[in-house]
Amino acid sequence: MHCIKKITDDLIWVGANDRRLAMFEGVYSVPDGVSYNSYLLTDKKTVLFDTVDKSVREQFLENVSETLKERPLDYLVIQHMEPDHSASVLEIMALYPDMRVVCNAKTLQFIKQFYNFYDESRFMIVKENDTLDTGRHLLRFIMAPMVHWPEVMVTYDSVDKILFSSDAFGCFGALNGAIFADEVDFNKDYIDEARRYYTNIVGKYGTQVGALLKKVSTAQIEIICPLHGFVWRKNLNDIVLKYSQWSEYQPEEPGVMIAYASVYGHTENAAEILASMLWDRGIKTVMFDVSVTPASKIVSAAFRWSHLVFASTTYNAGIFVTMEAFISDLVAHNIQNRTVALIENGSWAPTSGKLMRAQLEKCKNIRLIDETINIRSGLNPEQRSALKSMAEMIASDFPFVS
Ligand SMILES: Cc1cc2nc3c(=O)[nH]c(=O)nc-3n(C[C@H](O)[C@H](O)[C@H](O)COP(=O)(O)O)c2cc1C
Ligand SMILES: [Fe+2]
Ligand SMILES: [Fe+2]
Repeated sequence: MHCIKKITDDLIWVGANDRRLAMFEGVYSVPDGVSYNSYLLTDKKTVLFDTVDKSVREQFLENVSETLKERPLDYLVIQHMEPDHSASVLEIMALYPDMRVVCNAKTLQFIKQFYNFYDESRFMIVKENDTLDTGRHLLRFIMAPMVHWPEVMVTYDSVDKILFSSDAFGCFGALNGAIFADEVDFNKDYIDEARRYYTNIVGKYGTQVGALLKKVSTAQIEIICPLHGFVWRKNLNDIVLKYSQWSEYQPEEPGVMIAYASVYGHTENAAEILASMLWDRGIKTVMFDVSVTPASKIVSAAFRWSHLVFASTTYNAGIFVTMEAFISDLVAHNIQNRTVALIENGSWAPTSGKLMRAQLEKCKNIRLIDETINIRSGLNPEQRSALKSMAEMIASDFPFVS
């Protein structure tokens, strides 16, 4: 049975939710599921914005057919060719043979690559600022390369002031009946998943996200319709401000994130003592065992906090495996503008400190604290006072906390 949501009088959400998916894109755990949003504009011409993942295809097709009733589908706008949104394109094309696909040249190339399919008569190729008049609405296409993939574009409806934002402004988590961000307590219940989505999916492409924000900054926007998560119709500034902070790699909050890797618990012990010393100085501190917490959560936390501490055991002359994987993930996500401190451990030939430093030095605007704390198995009193000095050095960056 169909399950649709009204966005405006002539714009209907026809997407669907998946709560059984274990790993989004094969790497991001989604314990609260994920939504695949698709929107159907029922103007004089009917326009579908993107399709959905194959896992929810049936629900989606029912939603589209119910919303159209007896009307034909005139256009499908493909804003993003990633299969979580394009897996149902061929079905839609087959079901609605008179429908034309609106997309850009790069998208068309991807359609050929994915589907080995091309029928020229069915495509309408658009470029930056091209428009589509659908009767009452006027849709303008704006290219947003690398706001996840190179072919991404967004669409602006200048009549109802709606931005169809593709993956931008998306959020992990299935929609549990509500469709608007203002219906739920977004800042309490969803902001962490919005950050985890942003940082892991598009965090690497801050420059391109910034370019998109700049392009749309002159447009009056009253509604944002992303391809995952809630639709925004109130307090749009809240999420736009977050996006501009994240895209500029500015920390959201002063505080410390400690990520540690420990085989027998001694490195963890040092991390806990440091965390305790930081809280004693009034500094908010969070800790993650990189072997336990999914990397996507720790990447997200690294984008949130101003100071990062990495503590790792030495393992076969290298960084402990899970820490090595985590740091390369974080570096790949382009983390910048942070103060970083390091703790290494090793019983006979410690190397993890030097190797972690070499990795993190690749990032822009990272202030790496010179002194790495070197532990040679269990913590000794000298190293304990080195942790105290590290806590004090970090605290000197927090002039307003007691
Ligand atoms: C498989 C394995 C390989 C290790 N390789 C090294 C090494 O190459 N160099 C070194 O100094 N210590 C090495 N260690 C020892 C640990 O780094 C060291 O015991 C450290 O104190 C462990 O800290 P933890 O209690 O936080 O795990 C290795 C330990 C294991 C289990
Ligand atoms: Fe995507
Ligand atoms: Fe997506």
